[in-house]
Amino acid sequence: MKCSVANLLVVSLLFQGGVDSLELQEYDKRLILDSIFGPSPTRAPTDPEVGMDAIELVSSKGYPAESHNVQTEDGFILTIHRIPHGKNDVNTNISRPVVLLWHGLLESSTVFLENLANESLGYILADAGYDVWLANSRGDTYSKRHVRYSSTQRQFWEWSWDEMAKYDLPSTINYVLERSGRVSFTTLVIRSATLACLPSNPWQGTEIAFAAFSQNQELGRKVKLFIALGPVTALKNIKSPIKYIAPFMGGIKFLMNLVGTQEFMPSSSLVKFLGKYVCRAGLTNLVCSNVIFLFGGYNPHEMNATRLPVYIAHNPAGTSVQNIEHYVQSSQSGKFQMFDYGSHEANRRHYNSTTPPEYDVTRMETPVALFWGENDWLAVPSDVKTLIPKLPHVVRSREIPGWQHLDFVWGVHAPGVLYNDMINLLKQSETPFTVG
Ligand SMILES: *[C@@H]1O[C@H](CO)[C@@H](O)[C@H](O)[C@H]1NC(C)=O
Ligand SMILES: *[C@@H]1O[C@H](CO)[C@@H](O)[C@H](O)[C@H]1NC(C)=O
Ligand SMILES: *[C@@H]1O[C@H](CO)[C@@H](O)[C@H](O)[C@H]1NC(C)=O
Ligand SMILES: *[C@@H]1O[C@H](CO)[C@@H](O)[C@H](O)[C@H]1NC(C)=O
Repeated sequence: MKCSVANLLVVSLLFQGGVDSLELQEYDKRLILDSIFGPSPTRAPTDPEVGMDAIELVSSKGYPAESHNVQTEDGFILTIHRIPHGKNDVNTNISRPVVLLWHGLLESSTVFLENLANESLGYILADAGYDVWLANSRGDTYSKRHVRYSSTQRQFWEWSWDEMAKYDLPSTINYVLERSGRVSFTTLVIRSATLACLPSNPWQGTEIAFAAFSQNQELGRKVKLFIALGPVTALKNIKSPIKYIAPFMGGIKFLMNLVGTQEFMPSSSLVKFLGKYVCRAGLTNLVCSNVIFLFGGYNPHEMNATRLPVYIAHNPAGTSVQNIEHYVQSSQSGKFQMFDYGSHEANRRHYNSTTPPEYDVTRMETPVALFWGENDWLAVPSDVKTLIPKLPHVVRSREIPGWQHLDFVWGVHAPGVLYNDMINLLKQSETPFTVG
């Protein structure tokens, strides 16, 4: 009945795009490019990384790149990426310790690959001697396939992060262990992790309990260290304007039903509405026009503004309306619990209980390292400080002064400020941690 790493979930609350449709998205991108480089005819050539996918990004920087398909128990086909070794590693034969990087909400595997090679976590870990795997959760750019449904069907999108924890995480961990020929992971690094553990009352939510008791607990022992970058559980004190999305939720669901898709695409009116909350801080139009910054914040000391077109081109990477709704529920309830299906009857059908079961982080036995930003609007320091004493096995917890939500992946000082520290932890995790 212990909580295992396979029940951890995993999200960052990055909302990006600000688009009504794909056409509009292209239009928005052009506007943004124009506002950086001036109108089209005089515009500087677009950064080639704008048009690259994950494999092309990795190859273009001289690193080996692989793509793998993982099928989940509920039929999703996830495409995950791998950098098996560093750029200058001549001996490609040796077995390297494995690190699995998991992106946040509306991001994809590319979020760890979008800065220069000397600045992005993916390349830095490969050069530090690790076998780097990059996950893609259901519904993002690289994981839009299912054995029965197409992504244009409603059924494809009926999930939230509960299902990512229950299916995507264990399937991916099992696959990576099998392929890498290792018996255990060095580390699972999760971006803005939501730590999802077992329901506090085990006979509620029996399906999840089953999954957790059997295979997931086994999996938990295979992970030596879990690093959470911006740990999120309950969104009690959240500062992000995501909390203002609640009144829109009914409208979004209604629209989605109308156009027959359940993929989340924020409308431009929603973006404008949210901009009011963020942009009075005196930010530029460029930043205010992208939801990624509207939700996560913008730190001019860390962000390389020249690379904004690359970030914008790869994000948002897609998620379900139900997943967004789950976050909105959490910001309203302040609880770390499963998706609320909206009525006693519907909840009883899913959980055999009229209310959604709560997750219990006190049961998490995997060693955890937590890093969070002083100015993170999502993983707010006061929420993180409430979480830490509940976790039984914390090996490191550190607040990074001045940092916001996006600095963990795109911060130009991240290598010196954070990644070196992480690599030291990875080295230590090769020998067992002492409880403390
Ligand atoms: C590399 O791996 C191959 C196949 O696993 C093996 O046959 C070969 O001996 C290895 N070479 C070295 C230098 O270890
Ligand atoms: C990475 O390389 C770029 C260009 O050479 C340089 O401007 C930047 O300072 C480097 N970043 C780090 C963290 O070393
Ligand atoms: C910022 O991005 C530009 C464009 O990719 C790059 O040339 C420059 O070296 C980057 N600066 C830093 C400090 O990383
Ligand atoms: C559902 O909950 C009731 C108690 O409310 C319990 O008696 C019953 O065994 C549960 N059913 C399942 C399938 O867990």
